Amino acid sequence: MKEFFCRAYGGPEVLGLREVEQPAPKADEILVRIVATTVNSADVRMRAARFPKGMGLIGRLALGVSKPRQPVLGTELAGIVTAAGRDVRRFKVGDKVFAFPGIKLGCHAEFRILHERQRVFPKPDNLSFSEAASISFGGTTALHFIRKAALHAGEKILVIGASGAVGSAMVQIAKHIGAEVSAVTSAGNADLVKSLGAAKVIDYRHENFADNGETYDVIAETTGTHTFRNCRNSLRKGGRFLAIAAGVPDMLAMIWSSALYGKQVIAGPAGESEALVQQVGEWAQAGILKPVIDRRYPFRQLPEAHAYVDTGRKRGSVVIEVAT
Ligand SMILES: NC(=O)c1ccc[n+]([C@@H]2O[C@H](COP(=O)([O-])OP(=O)(O)OC[C@H]3O[C@@H](n4cnc5c(N)ncnc54)[C@H](OP(=O)(O)O)[C@@H]3O)[C@@H](O)[C@H]2O)c1
Repeated sequence: MKEFFCRAYGGPEVLGLREVEQPAPKADEILVRIVATTVNSADVRMRAARFPKGMGLIGRLALGVSKPRQPVLGTELAGIVTAAGRDVRRFKVGDKVFAFPGIKLGCHAEFRILHERQRVFPKPDNLSFSEAASISFGGTTALHFIRKAALHAGEKILVIGASGAVGSAMVQIAKHIGAEVSAVTSAGNADLVKSLGAAKVIDYRHENFADNGETYDVIAETTGTHTFRNCRNSLRKGGRFLAIAAGVPDMLAMIWSSALYGKQVIAGPAGESEALVQQVGEWAQAGILKPVIDRRYPFRQLPEAHAYVDTGRKRGSVVIEVAT
């Protein structure tokens, strides 16, 4: 089978395509033929060793000092079960599934082995393989942080970076919960974020939300362009700042923000639990969480997909069609 691997940290040119032996599943594993996967912000961060402010050393220690320890990137997939170990109960050959190996990676390949409980679920039948491959990364991150914030109906949330993979899911989930959603994005993405549920759109190229006097119960920051420090006056008393792309300043602010300002900073890695992926799948099946796909690339053009995601301008997800 073919897989893309990362030779070193660097630009998309460090990605190579190689032929490797197709793995065989153990007793409690399945082999999935990948039909679609994504290239997302985590993939390009890991490829380029581009970490949030002050996190470079920690990032390299966690992922590999001179090159990614797991060279095959790719956090999410949708595909078809082509083999199942003798103890597998939940799936059989031919089942259509989606999965979120997350930080275990390995989805930029034609096949992937998964433990039957490794965040793998039946593909929602109203979704194409491309759509099903695209829902987990943004959806589970948004849901993790919304739960940490205990966002509830009637509260006001501001989503900074509402057109990205995480932001577009956050807008939809917050709207579903019954919160009033404001979105920070550029003018070209205003119609998209309104269609997802934003009641108000602030074009960051022409207006600074921090200057307009509006306050929110929750601010979700997905772009790394704002810190708690420059958002705290836009947060109400008891407000929560979700530092989803947090650098060291917001990590430190977690310690003292509540005592000093009565406002909480929530940061750190999103959970990658079975329950989060299951909920995202159920909401996608019910039409509550709609996949947002920007571009699709054939497998052999995966480096071009990396180059596009590197621009920081993608809307929702960039899908790789591995098989058709
Ligand atoms: N904590 C965790 O566990 C966790 C998990 C997942 C992701 N993350 C992090 O979360 C961040 C977002 O991830 P993502 O996948 O959603 O990114 P993404 O899809 O690549 O985000 C791209 C979007 O960001 C928007 N954007 C860029 N600069 C902006 C600005 N100044 N104001 C408003 N919008 C802006 C762009 O819209 P325009 O073209 O309109 O600017 C574009 O649509 C990344 O830093 C990622 O590493 C963290």
